[in-house]
Amino acid sequence: MNLPVPGLATVLVGEDPASQSYVRAKHRACDETGIKSYAINYSEDISQKKLEGAISDLAHEPEIHGILVQLPLPKGLDEERILNTIPLEKDVDGFHPINIGRLAQKGRQPLFTPCTPSGIIYLLKKYTNTLEGKRAVILGRSNIVGMPVSLLLLRENATITICHSRTKDLPLITKEADILIAAIGRPKMVKGSWIKPGAVVIDVGVNRVEDSSKKSGYRLVGDVDFEEALEVASAITPVPGGVGPLTIAMLMKNTLIAAERADK
Ligand code: GUN
Repeated sequence: MNLPVPGLATVLVGEDPASQSYVRAKHRACDETGIKSYAINYSEDISQKKLEGAISDLAHEPEIHGILVQLPLPKGLDEERILNTIPLEKDVDGFHPINIGRLAQKGRQPLFTPCTPSGIIYLLKKYTNTLEGKRAVILGRSNIVGMPVSLLLLRENATITICHSRTKDLPLITKEADILIAAIGRPKMVKGSWIKPGAVVIDVGVNRVEDSSKKSGYRLVGDVDFEEALEVASAITPVPGGVGPLTIAMLMKNTLIAAERADK
């Protein structure tokens, strides 16, 4: 097989330090895996029209098999319209409205599924024999993690409960979870007493908290109180080093799949 070198373009708008660091990590992974990566950066005052035009240009480049627009975009840009300009077959992040729509419907197949949720399902399937019939509680309903991971779990025949900022009696609900996924962006919010003994806990939170002992002045913690959870859960993903690297691995996999499909 003589596959062309897979190519991934990242589009980063603005200078959010967390987004810059995520995008850097994606490029590093491309270098390590033999994927050619293209970094396209714009200042936050780019117009909607110019950004859509730039993505359309990338869409026509045959060496670019995947296009990723780092989210969130700065205020004022219409995210849905921008994601709509990515061709479905290059939507390696799985956020195109049609791919997400297909994910939400029975009998339909998205061309790609979002990377963090796919990584979570990969990990859960490695760790437990089946997700069927398991009670999964998802904290957070974001477009990037909470909603798509819920849809993927539903496809695995888990029973899902999605909790959010207006949910009442949260600890009572989380305590019923065989699988607890925290994606809310609140440092150490989930306590050990919220977790069912033996549950599998996936911590998606990446929160910066002040730490004067660090050169950067901060350290990263998850949404779960890791030390407390260790005492109760049968397994928990650490922050950093848990879900983050899996997300990137899924992006590499999706880019390779996009290149293979383009070669057919
Ligand atoms: N922002 C946070 N996670 C992601 C991701 O997986 N993809 C994109 N495009 N933006 C993100």
